[in-house]
Amino acid sequence: MPGLARITGSLLRTKPVEQIAADGEHTALRRSMGLVSLIALSVGATLGTGIFVVLGEAAPLAGPAVVISFVVAALAALFSALSYAELAGAVPVSGSAYSYTYATLGEIVAWVCGWCLLLEYGVSVAAVAVGWGAYLNEFLGSTVGWRIPDALSSAPSEGGVVNLPAAVVVLIATAVLLEGVRESARVTTITTMIKIAVLVFFVIVAVTAFDSGNLHPFAPAGVAGITSAASMVFFSFIGFDAASTAGEEARNPQRDLPRAIIISLGIVTLMYVLVALTAVGASGIDGVGGSGASLATVLEQVTGKSWPATILAAGAVVAIASVVLTVLYGQTRILVSMSRDGLMPRVLSRVGAKQVPTTNILVVGGVVAVLSALIPLGELVNATNIGTLVSFGLVNVGVLVLRRTKPDLPRTFRTLVPLVPVLGVGMCVYLLAHLPGVTWLAFALWSAVGLVVYFGYGRRRSALNRVTSGESGAPDSDS
Ligand code: ALA
Repeated sequence: MPGLARITGSLLRTKPVEQIAADGEHTALRRSMGLVSLIALSVGATLGTGIFVVLGEAAPLAGPAVVISFVVAALAALFSALSYAELAGAVPVSGSAYSYTYATLGEIVAWVCGWCLLLEYGVSVAAVAVGWGAYLNEFLGSTVGWRIPDALSSAPSEGGVVNLPAAVVVLIATAVLLEGVRESARVTTITTMIKIAVLVFFVIVAVTAFDSGNLHPFAPAGVAGITSAASMVFFSFIGFDAASTAGEEARNPQRDLPRAIIISLGIVTLMYVLVALTAVGASGIDGVGGSGASLATVLEQVTGKSWPATILAAGAVVAIASVVLTVLYGQTRILVSMSRDGLMPRVLSRVGAKQVPTTNILVVGGVVAVLSALIPLGELVNATNIGTLVSFGLVNVGVLVLRRTKPDLPRTFRTLVPLVPVLGVGMCVYLLAHLPGVTWLAFALWSAVGLVVYFGYGRRRSALNRVTSGESGAPDSDS
């Protein structure tokens, strides 16, 4: 059956690593980011809603042992981070997990991965923007005593009309990205430093009220409680891989990308453990837990004054805005890679006068703004998690495959194979298995749409058609 063999061959064709690297060399994007900018990008994309919102929701599940949940989630992230670091050092382009799987597991898997990354980046940025809107309202309420009315600050299914603040923060981030990556990187570095400062401020204030009695009983729900809280706070680690979407804008990607990924993960883990420990130690699990409770509430309880809480709320507004900016940035760069490969319309990789992919940024910003305006937070979060875990799993498999197929490829960072990638896959499968059935159903639908798009568009227009003899590729056209 030569026809079947031909189709299978085209689905499993890989993009040569050398070609990926060459694409990266000839990029029209500007190489302006050093190690500090890359770390700021990753920390900026990571530290946000998870610590400001999800800590409060996870704490009742695990009790004071929620601190351990953060460590468990960090371990899950670490195994995948090491795989990301190896691939980012070997294949330093802008497409993150998508480019890595294209080089290792074949076009169809790369497409699935890129489609999942739309959930990790595109959908999560909508979720984060919704969280930002809520914090903005908290801040306005505590400072000027006025809140944006519910009708204009919540999604239709929550009784509102439109979530205006969420859409507005996405549009502001879109405008910043249109100004160019140097400006974006500068904004990201400043906002990341502000949020670290605000969390350090939280730790310093909370530690003054630390009472070890608040840590007892430490793990009232046992290992099960710690594990379910870990699955939840895993969300707070999503984003450490953001530096891997900037491979073509890094000055020295081979050296700096692996370092940036690992250092970022270390920084956020340290912050999360310190914040969780001092929060629980200062006000007990009842003070921290619950969807209404926030780090600001803890500060208010601890100090009996409102100004520390207001400072923290202001910091949360900045922190979450910077997550929106960096994750949105990552999404646009992944689409650049997919578009350049012919799997998405060419117009998404066209670079404008400011050396940024203008149309791409406008399309992504517009779609995410609409999502954040109309869909509530909870529905967006699980979709983010499933997409992220699948792409992390594929990255781990990619490391194993590339070690076999390209053993001599220069690697600036080497993880421990096969142990670490196997542990990484195991953790992803474990967490995936604990996601609700309804999330799986939504994911199955999402994947089906993705396959229709691939077979209806990408497979025929893939740039590899031009280099694979015998393929009947349709000519590339700007769509
Ligand atoms: N890790 C990101 C956050 O917590 C998604 O906001």
